Amino acid sequence: MLTAALRAAETSRPDRIYEDPYAAALCGDAGPSLLAEIREATFPKNALRTLPSTPDYNAIRTRFFDDYLQRAAKDSDLSQVVLAPAGMDSRAYRLAWPEHIRYFEVDRPAVLEYKRDRLRGVDPQVQHHVVAADLTAPDWEARLAAAGYDPASPSVWLLEGLLYYVTESDAHSILDRIAAIMAPGGLIAADIVNDAALTLPNMRGLLDLFAGWGCPWLFGTDEPERFFAAHGFAVEAVQPGDPEADFGRWPDPVPPRGEKNVRRVFFLHGRRT
Ligand SMILES: C[S@@+](CC[C@H](N)C(=O)[O-])C[C@H]1O[C@@H](n2cnc3c(N)ncnc32)[C@H](O)[C@@H]1O
Repeated sequence: MLTAALRAAETSRPDRIYEDPYAAALCGDAGPSLLAEIREATFPKNALRTLPSTPDYNAIRTRFFDDYLQRAAKDSDLSQVVLAPAGMDSRAYRLAWPEHIRYFEVDRPAVLEYKRDRLRGVDPQVQHHVVAADLTAPDWEARLAAAGYDPASPSVWLLEGLLYYVTESDAHSILDRIAAIMAPGGLIAADIVNDAALTLPNMRGLLDLFAGWGCPWLFGTDEPERFFAAHGFAVEAVQPGDPEADFGRWPDPVPPRGEKNVRRVFFLHGRRT
C-alpha cells in the first residue's frame, strides 16, 4: 500500500515519469498516512536529508521496470511475464501488452484479495492469472503451474520489492527455485539493497519504521552479481542516477561501487545462463 501511495503521489506530479491511474484506489485510506511516515523518516524537518529520497527512488524503479518488461515482452519467443511479488502493482491494467504474453501475478492470498476488490470492474490488458502463494512456502511452483505457467516456455521474472523482505537463506532458495522452472533464454530482473542499508546509523529511522509495520528489511548484499551468478543468472547492476536509471529525477550523486558505508539499491537485470 505504501508503494501504491508513492505511485499515486507520482501520478499527481506535473513532471511525473509514468502514470498509474489505479494507484490512488489501491493505496486505500492507509496510503497517505504511510507516505507521511516515510516523509518524516527520510526528509527530517530542520535537518539535512542524509538518506536517498524514497519517492524519487520508487518513481525511477517503477519506470525502469515498466520499460524493461515492455521491451522484454516485444520478443515473440518470450511468452510469460511473472511478477513475484505483484503487490499493488497495476502494470497488467495500465500498460498495453502484446497478444502472445501470459501474465502471472504472485503474492499472498490476502494481498491479492484486497487488490481484486479495489480493482473490481477494471479489466487487465493482457491474459492475466493470479497466483495466491507465499514465495517462501513449499508449494508455490505447483500453484503457478496450476494457473497455467509453462516451465518449458521462455519467461521474464520481476522480483521488485521482494529480496530485502526475506532472509538470506530464503533469497537463495527463491532464486534456486525460479532457476529450476525457467526455460533457457529466460530473463530476470530485481531490486536489492546493499549490506550497509541494513546497518548504517542514518538508516535506523527507516528500518525501524518498516519493522514497526511488520515488514522488516532482512537481507542485502554488496555483491548482487555474484549472488545471482551462484543460482545460474548473469545480471548487471544499475544504480538510480546512472544514465539508464535517472529519467531526470535522481537528486543525489551516485556513489562509486567501491565506496563503503553508503546506502545503496541496485536494479538488476540479466538472463538465465
Ligand atoms: C514492496 S511490495 C512490492 C510489490 C510490487 N512488486 C510493487 O512494486 O508494487 C512487497 C510485496 O511483497 C510481498 N511479499 C513479501 N514477502 C512475500 C512472500 N514471502 N511471498 C509472497 N509475497 C511476498 C508483499 O505481500 C508485498 O505485496
